[in-house]
Amino acid sequence: MKLVKAVLAASLGAVIAASSMSVQAKQLTIGFSQIGAESEWRTANTNDVKAAAKAHGINLKFSDAQQKQENQIKAIRTFIAQKVDLIGFVPIVATGWDNILREAKRAKIPVLVMDRDLTVSDPSLYVAKIGTDSYTEGRKVFDWLDKYVHDKNIKPRNGGDKINIVILEGTVGASATTGRGNGFSDALKESPNKDLYNVLASQTGDFTRQKGQEVMESFLKSNRNDIDVLFAMNDDMALGAIQAIEAAGLVPAKDITIVSVDGVKGIFQAMIEGKANATVECNPLQGDLFFTTAEKILKGESVPKSVFVEEGVYPAETAKEVFPSRKY
Ligand code: AHR
Repeated sequence: MKLVKAVLAASLGAVIAASSMSVQAKQLTIGFSQIGAESEWRTANTNDVKAAAKAHGINLKFSDAQQKQENQIKAIRTFIAQKVDLIGFVPIVATGWDNILREAKRAKIPVLVMDRDLTVSDPSLYVAKIGTDSYTEGRKVFDWLDKYVHDKNIKPRNGGDKINIVILEGTVGASATTGRGNGFSDALKESPNKDLYNVLASQTGDFTRQKGQEVMESFLKSNRNDIDVLFAMNDDMALGAIQAIEAAGLVPAKDITIVSVDGVKGIFQAMIEGKANATVECNPLQGDLFFTTAEKILKGESVPKSVFVEEGVYPAETAKEVFPSRKY
């Protein structure tokens, strides 16, 4: 009898241990809606999210929206139907998310935003946002430019009294576009040198290399001899613009100072070749922070509403030395 009791107790203990282990080890399922693959940066961001999901043991349901907000909304609705543990997404544009996020809230599925910001009527529609600070990136672009113009004694090419700037903007309505644009123009307005600068033209290149090239071609058609500076809101557009500048018979980084945002390997290569002047980093390696934050949320821990990743500024002079350590 004693032996039977002992065997029963041992097997009950084993069952409890096994079931509590299976509770602890329950694999989390996270749905993630990515914008698409518009840039070298975005590809690095996607690769990092997938690698980090693996490292965290997450069952990742990944969806590529191919640059369409409606596809992101559809993907989020599918994740809700699949009863995932948490939904992550990169908002392609800042607005238009209220309804779908209300659906997620009704289904009690927490939402964690990555990379770009969003504007919603009720902040409780998402738990937190982790990612980049595009306003500060825009300010850093102007600060670098202003210093460079003075250190290098850059003069207007047309002999006038203004340094003429053209801007290649990102996707219309994206926080990365408005943030960088506002940061740049606020820093310019606040600068004691503000009267030296003139924004000659500003148009979207949708964060792609091809559109960056096309829009730069049209800028050059109308203002070939007046453009002194190109601010491209991402490196891919700068790389496209470099081709347009060369095709117009001008020397990139000499005739036209080029500063962009991201810090991808392609722009480092261009800086090493003397074709670009600086890049302000926008760090795509957000996967580990994303899943660490997601795990905290799912454990019921509180997390800050907004967490930014670290970002540097890389002038061409540092490119050769820094290049080997670049991870994307
Ligand atoms: O949201 C980040 C921006 O989106 C990056 O600057 C750009 O390359 C990407 O497409």
